[in-house]
Amino acid sequence: MFERLQMAPKDPILGLAETFREDPRPGKINLAVGVFQDASGKTPILESVRVAGERVIQKQNSKAYLPIPGSPVFAAAVGKMLFGESHEVVTSGRSATSHTPGGTGALRVVADLIHQQFPQATVWMTDPTWPNHPQIFAAAGVPTKSFPYFDAKDNRMSWDAMLAAIQKMPAGDVILLHGCCHNPTGIDPTPEEWNQLADVVYGRGLLPLLDFAYQGFAEGINEDAAGLRAFCRPNAELIVCSSFSKNFGLYCERVGALTIVAAGKKATDTAQSQVKVCIRSNYSNPPAHGAELVTTVLGDPELAAMWEKEVAQMRGRINGMRELLVNTLKAKGVPGDYSFITKQRGMFSFSGLTREQVDALKDKHAIYIVGSGRINVAGITPTNCDQLCAAIADVVKG
Ligand SMILES: Cc1ncc(COP(=O)(O)O)c(C=O)c1O
Repeated sequence: MFERLQMAPKDPILGLAETFREDPRPGKINLAVGVFQDASGKTPILESVRVAGERVIQKQNSKAYLPIPGSPVFAAAVGKMLFGESHEVVTSGRSATSHTPGGTGALRVVADLIHQQFPQATVWMTDPTWPNHPQIFAAAGVPTKSFPYFDAKDNRMSWDAMLAAIQKMPAGDVILLHGCCHNPTGIDPTPEEWNQLADVVYGRGLLPLLDFAYQGFAEGINEDAAGLRAFCRPNAELIVCSSFSKNFGLYCERVGALTIVAAGKKATDTAQSQVKVCIRSNYSNPPAHGAELVTTVLGDPELAAMWEKEVAQMRGRINGMRELLVNTLKAKGVPGDYSFITKQRGMFSFSGLTREQVDALKDKHAIYIVGSGRINVAGITPTNCDQLCAAIADVVKG
């Protein structure tokens, strides 16, 4: 049977990482995959996570299965991180959190839930979005459509076009928004705009789904939750998919969370029972270790403070590299004004480089970035920035 199969195309992001690994050229630079690197180009284990790891190993006395939605201690910690201390959404019992294998696992469980429980619903995505978004929902058999988000000409949000598009979405559809650090554009609504967005989304009878993969990478853990908290209105429904891959550096441990908020506790309990059905038939129950690290860090005030400081350091390094990138591009005489890069938030910079320029960077200079022109700023270092900008100057000037 396998003889009849066709070779699948490589994944637009992880496929590039494979090609990068096979590239024998010295001095190659990988700015494709969204992984934080320190100034020496390493993806570190955070000190707070390392200390937590030692405690977890000492305390652990069983490898028994976790419950289907994972540990309730983890769920409580995530609820606090998302909504803040003692938010009505949590105290009323109208939110339920499941621990999932990464943010991707959370998205897939939501996709299965929509497919099974809301088969008429379309999921609307920003144009552009993370390339895995449409793939995940398509794999679960959920139809997707996109709406305007980014004005490439002026490097800003297509605010009016976006609101006009939302006004036409059918009630009962789902709108997928990025909680902060929009991937790939790095452009987010302001707190006032989030409020307006919530007015329009709920006014249309849509279900908001917030993908929250970069909490802490824009301004701070609490500040970055402003968008999703704008949706926490009395009796309002929402879904949040969290990832702890970036903000805890737990990429390979696969720690994420799916949080359902319904109008009241009864509806939440019912929805959560359906979430559990989706999890059971998908991966049964989550892997424990990564979530134990997160709960150990968040459950100890000293470790939590150390972690927040480390997140701030990662944020600071990325923002420093944004400045260096813009200044070096200018120094190399690259035509155009790239100052917009310093205003983007999160790990990525949507550089405006064309597909041809991206290909030339790979073929001529062994520099890997995603086809959309998205650069992982967290992969730039004081050592490789000059080489990167010289290469960009070469492909832009032709
Ligand atoms: C927008 C967005 N959502 C979700 C994820 C999923 O993260 P993970 O599954 O690694 O936790 C990512 C990771 O790159 C992302 O960029």
